[in-house]
Amino acid sequence: MNAGQLKEAFFSRFGGEARVFRAPGRVNLIGEHTDYNDGFVLPAAIGFATNVAAAGRNDRKIRAASLNFAGEYEFDLDQPNASILPGWARYVQGVGTILEREGFRLGGADLLINSDIPIGAGLSSSAALEVAVGFALTRIVGAEIDGMKLAQVGQRAEHEFAGVRSGIMDQFASVFGRDENALFLDCRSLDWSAVPVSSRFLICNTKTKHELADGEYNRRRAECERAAAFFGKTSLRDVSIEDFERSRSQMPVIEQKRARHILYENRRVLDSVQALRVGDIASFARQIDASHESLRDDFQISCRELDVMVEAARRQPGVLAARMTGGGFGGCAIALLEDDVSLDLPDAIAMEYKEETGIEPEFYECRIGGGVRELQDRRRDIIKS
Ligand code: GLA
Repeated sequence: MNAGQLKEAFFSRFGGEARVFRAPGRVNLIGEHTDYNDGFVLPAAIGFATNVAAAGRNDRKIRAASLNFAGEYEFDLDQPNASILPGWARYVQGVGTILEREGFRLGGADLLINSDIPIGAGLSSSAALEVAVGFALTRIVGAEIDGMKLAQVGQRAEHEFAGVRSGIMDQFASVFGRDENALFLDCRSLDWSAVPVSSRFLICNTKTKHELADGEYNRRRAECERAAAFFGKTSLRDVSIEDFERSRSQMPVIEQKRARHILYENRRVLDSVQALRVGDIASFARQIDASHESLRDDFQISCRELDVMVEAARRQPGVLAARMTGGGFGGCAIALLEDDVSLDLPDAIAMEYKEETGIEPEFYECRIGGGVRELQDRRRDIIKS
């Protein structure tokens, strides 16, 4: 559905003219669970996105509906301590509430949301919603918001309204995405740079999401904090690989495994960036494969379906490497492809995956795209040009 069609849908639902804002989902090329450890990540924004049609109101109420889910929800910006709304609406409420707390003076708004990001696939549909809503709510009152601040507001909504102590990566990628570039972010300093990526990727959706995902996510974060505390630090970023190797035999086994993943994953991100900058795809491929092994064995957040998908992908001609991507326990794997890979590749992986799991997977050719922006409808573009 394009911007013009969403405006029409908005008109028939709420009446009045809306502006449309778009924020993409993301895929992480490498650097998993390193973001909340003050480490390095290399995500990219993808072609799937969430669009929000928004128009101001004369009161302080935010009313939101989605074309993807039933129900219409409402909250009042003047009641920041109201109970948390159900499902997707909690992200809208979280972003509105936190923006106000951060000193943005918002107005009431009607919002109509439409997304083509596969839900529950680990492609950051919730971060895209947070970023699109935050951008919309500020823009319609004529306020400017710094990109990193917008990402942080989304992250805080995730912590406080969804109970997941996530890092900054997803919202960051949704804000700053750039065509044909991955985004290399230092999650401690928040310095980042774009890294041109000419390789092709296939996103392989296992169509599974295990229920324990959120609880295990927070648990991993706590385990990483304990691992850092073993070294007298608050963050694993301050622990060197040398220090770790010297004393790891004295660490409890869980903390040892978690630390080993994070420390070497940070190095793999740095090596990947270096490899991409000099066009050394073979080295990048090695980092991707090693990342999966580490997530499976040391961080222990893979699952049977992800392992089967990764193995099936790796067996196909034209696939250079594969790994799970995102938070874990289901969702997607990503396969790095040779340039002239066969068009039948998804079918070949699907056949093997389905045979072993009984699940019909989905595949998306990954187009690396831009970050959050306002969409103009075609008519207005023509008038402008
Ligand atoms: C989820 C979180 C991110 C990040 C990844 C794992 O997507 O939202 O902050 O921690 O998992 O890399």
